[in-house]
Amino acid sequence: MTRLDTRALQDALAREQARFAKAHPNSRAAYAAGQAHYLYGAPSHWMRRWAGGFPLAVRSAQGARLRCVDGLDYVDFCLGDTGGMCGHANPAITQAVAGQLAHGATLMLPTEAAAWVGEELTRRFGLPYWGFTTSASDANRAVIRIARMISGRTKVLVFDGCYHGSVEEAHVALDPQGRVVLRNGIHANAVDHARVSKVVPYNDVAALRAALAPGDVACVLAEPFMTNFGMFEPLPDFLAELRRATRDTGTLLVYDETHTFSSGPGGVTGRDHLDPDFFVVGKAVGGGVPVGLYGASQAVAERLWQAVPKVNPVEVRQSAHLGFGGTLAGSALQVAAVRAVLGEVLTPPAFAHMTRLAHDLAQASRAVIAEHGLPWCVVQLGARLETMFVADPPRNAAEFRSSRNDVLESLLHVYFMNRGVLITPFHCMLLMCPATTADDTARWLQVLREFCAELTGRGSA
Ligand SMILES: Cc1ncc(COP(=O)(O)O)c(C=O)c1O
Repeated sequence: MTRLDTRALQDALAREQARFAKAHPNSRAAYAAGQAHYLYGAPSHWMRRWAGGFPLAVRSAQGARLRCVDGLDYVDFCLGDTGGMCGHANPAITQAVAGQLAHGATLMLPTEAAAWVGEELTRRFGLPYWGFTTSASDANRAVIRIARMISGRTKVLVFDGCYHGSVEEAHVALDPQGRVVLRNGIHANAVDHARVSKVVPYNDVAALRAALAPGDVACVLAEPFMTNFGMFEPLPDFLAELRRATRDTGTLLVYDETHTFSSGPGGVTGRDHLDPDFFVVGKAVGGGVPVGLYGASQAVAERLWQAVPKVNPVEVRQSAHLGFGGTLAGSALQVAAVRAVLGEVLTPPAFAHMTRLAHDLAQASRAVIAEHGLPWCVVQLGARLETMFVADPPRNAAEFRSSRNDVLESLLHVYFMNRGVLITPFHCMLLMCPATTADDTARWLQVLREFCAELTGRGSA
């Protein structure tokens, strides 16, 4: 196996960052100007996380391509960290959203398209009842609230390494002693996480059962295939054990498929006929319009309707509500966007194309990595793939954590940006959209070959 020298990696990173800075004076100036008015220099704090030292300022994006304000073109495998999985400026979405804007965007009234969308959500994901929010974070907070309302329990159990958006209960991880701590550098606030959260390692049935045994967990919030800290596949039977353990202890089970929707038209839940109590999806499902969706099972819905009846009696109409919602949730604009996404864009043929590309790219990337003797692996789930700097796919966050190399990861990101390829800035994830082509994936492979050759000193880059 090839070993990489830390000093050499740091030197290479400094060289690539200098090259990036030189090639992007307009982006650099835009970020500098942003410092005066944004807390973190750009409209969202995530945008400062790109490895070049400042984010690209974008002039336009189309399909799987993007052009920055310095006039440079990129193949975009980041796709807005999944929000752009439909491809940028998709014509069907543009037309549907523009058409709805012209007829009223947000009305506090449903439109006719809502019926089709509700039916399609059930057909794809299996759960009978749905609600809209304005983000996946909001959808997760909504289901946590319902789970607490109907169970009377406080705690939320998540798996070590998870990310579920701005959900306080899920901002936790396990330290090497197995204690609950704030995850990944998140700054402490006044919340007592020991009171509201439990964390166990993914793929560990014994730890899961032990954590659920006291009967104080309202819900388990999980991805059916973890994607946010490396990518971990469930071991055979793990999801069945998870379902069994939650049922045995009266705990509700939420599958958050905001990322794993990449696995196909019905997510992992639809594909594998999983049977969660709640389902959450966001990002891609709105085609760029902020949308979160939560689904509930028949049993959950009936328990909820006991607490909050379906039709408000007149005398309580001002007070009987769910405690969450969002004025723009379920807006005409959102519904029009989701209708276009599910009806015309993220269709079974589109997923077949994206998955085929991702599969072939994963295989070819593994071959390049093996040729160079690097101890890395590539894990794929439908349209998404992740490169990790560890020989065998990790089964949980502790295994992945031990392999992390921040310098190497930053170097990879900026090296690829300097050669016209973008991947999601927080980890080494690539995502296909319906407009991604074999030329785009060939570009990744070409740069990967150069990168591996340069790292290992085998051949010139
Ligand atoms: C699994 C999962 N759930 C929820 C979210 C939150 O999505 P949003 O930021 O759109 O609320 C994310 C974001 O990355 C996610 O990966």
